[in-house]
Amino acid sequence: MAWDKKHLIEIDPLSRKDIENLFELADKLLPYSGIDKTIPPKEQKSLNLLQGKIMRLWFEEKEPSTRTYGSFQTAMERLGGEPQEFNEGKSSIKKKESTEHTSRILSGQCDIFVDRHRDPLHIHMLVEKSLIPVVNAGNGSDQHPTQTLLDLYTIKKKVGKVDGNIITIVGDLKYGRTTHSLMKGLEKFDDIEVHGISPPGLEMPEKYIGDIRYYPHIIDMRNLKSVLTETNPNFIYATRIQDERISWRMRLLKGSMYRYQINKDTLEYLFNVYLMHPLPIATNSKYGPEIATELDDDPRAIYFEQADNGIPMREAIIVILLGYRKSDIESHIKQTF
Ligand code: NCD
Repeated sequence: MAWDKKHLIEIDPLSRKDIENLFELADKLLPYSGIDKTIPPKEQKSLNLLQGKIMRLWFEEKEPSTRTYGSFQTAMERLGGEPQEFNEGKSSIKKKESTEHTSRILSGQCDIFVDRHRDPLHIHMLVEKSLIPVVNAGNGSDQHPTQTLLDLYTIKKKVGKVDGNIITIVGDLKYGRTTHSLMKGLEKFDDIEVHGISPPGLEMPEKYIGDIRYYPHIIDMRNLKSVLTETNPNFIYATRIQDERISWRMRLLKGSMYRYQINKDTLEYLFNVYLMHPLPIATNSKYGPEIATELDDDPRAIYFEQADNGIPMREAIIVILLGYRKSDIESHIKQTF
């Protein structure tokens, strides 16, 4: 089924063309995203394309966020719109109002919803009664489509195209929603090879593999260096072990095999590789930090750049869902500058 551009819940309905259009739009909006810090603040440009438009961010307390929340907020503001927080704790949800009714009422008050929730079905309840676009900012351990779009955008920016890359995803492939959407996104491109390295128990669920050329490597993470080197990737996509989603039983049985770290030594034989991570890197968890700080300034590490790309990409997502066309944006830019 083709993407109706009404909501963004999963990557699945987007075509390759839809994704490439978003890349193009993100490039267009890049000068109005504020991410190029070589430009002094007083010379940074923004747009008032979305003046009067309101975004409601519904982020459940138990689903903390720095990047996704912050970059949606920034993207909206840089385009002249207003992001507002929906505080569930102060709402009539406390009086047992249903999610569907809350959605209908809130959608009368604003223009676009962004939702992150522990319950993967919450987003579908919002969509049911919403009069406005709904964006999935992470639904439990299912998907995280806007992260994938910025991940693919980052890959494209780094090497010119998504096609033809070897991508090795490392870590928690079972509960890491960013890896699930990434699989679905990569599936739209040609000649892709994906390796999934995980400890036993945290393998990629079958339903996200689809038609992709996928090679699972279920290993004791202490052997990461040799397995990773053998996959010979252009991109490594490391992920955090999703401690909060793993049952105590699993932790007890297999937890000792989950700990891993990518450091300079791990990458000893990988010169032409880019290291991605959706972040956060878990510094004080018992399983991490999955990337050593010594790599932060290594030219192969691109995770900060990747996070920054979230702003122009989310700007592109917002304008598309609000019904603007490329030509509307071009003429607005022309009028403004
Ligand atoms: C990820 C998430 O929330 O799924 N973070 C993000 O949005 N960039 C990854 C994680 O929490 O491990």
